[in-house]
Amino acid sequence: MRRPFVAANWKMHKTVQEAVAYARDFAPRVEAVRNVDIVIAPPFLALPALVEATANSRVLVAAQNVHTAPHGAFTGEVSLGMLQGSGVTLVIIGHSERRQLFGETDAGVNTKTRATIDAGLTPIVCVGETLEEREADRTFDVLDRQVRDGLAGLSAGQVAALVVAYEPVWAIGTGRNATPDQADEAHRHIRQQLASQFGDAAAACRVIYGGSVKPGNVAELSARPDVDGALVGGASLDPASFAEIVASSRPATV
Ligand code: 13P
Repeated sequence: MRRPFVAANWKMHKTVQEAVAYARDFAPRVEAVRNVDIVIAPPFLALPALVEATANSRVLVAAQNVHTAPHGAFTGEVSLGMLQGSGVTLVIIGHSERRQLFGETDAGVNTKTRATIDAGLTPIVCVGETLEEREADRTFDVLDRQVRDGLAGLSAGQVAALVVAYEPVWAIGTGRNATPDQADEAHRHIRQQLASQFGDAAAACRVIYGGSVKPGNVAELSARPDVDGALVGGASLDPASFAEIVASSRPATV
């Protein structure tokens, strides 16, 4: 059985004070939700305050990025040791915005994923095709390459414990989510690729969907057998909305 996994990616939103106020509002709303991993990824600056504000709740805290060097002359970067020291337990890696706006590559995703696992944190590895790639019928090729190269060299056990987020770029922030059929098809394909690389670990690895997830569409999406939860941008910025999304997500495999 795969435990549903629902994560908020706040991107570059919320001050430290706003993050703490959100946590105080949100945590009680999901107190009664069982058997779902609930994660919030705020900007770096809010990480320690959010860890503290969610300490006695069911909410886990993720970073949106990481640098793999332990320390050094890397202006503007944050290391895994710094995240660990702040109580962060997960890291989003290879988000399409990082790939498109900051030049991240599959090789870089692989380096970050391996380092994150070595540090004892859980990677949330993002994959997904652009509209141009989908229209050129290259979706599966792109997903295969991102999964193959992004997870190269990992053991089956490591893959079983991480999370893959399928986020079609054309669905991010557009209000146009993938249909349940489109998501299901892509998730099944990703799981096949995982199985070809890692065998039985594919059945344990959670593959979550991201791209215009809202309270009104999450139940239908996560009812599909290969959709194990959601990675939510805009609709996670309001605590009531994100709590509704958490409550509406359903176990993919029971
Ligand atoms: P939206 O939910 O705003 O489309 O963003 C999705 C996303 O990129 C989450 O990582």
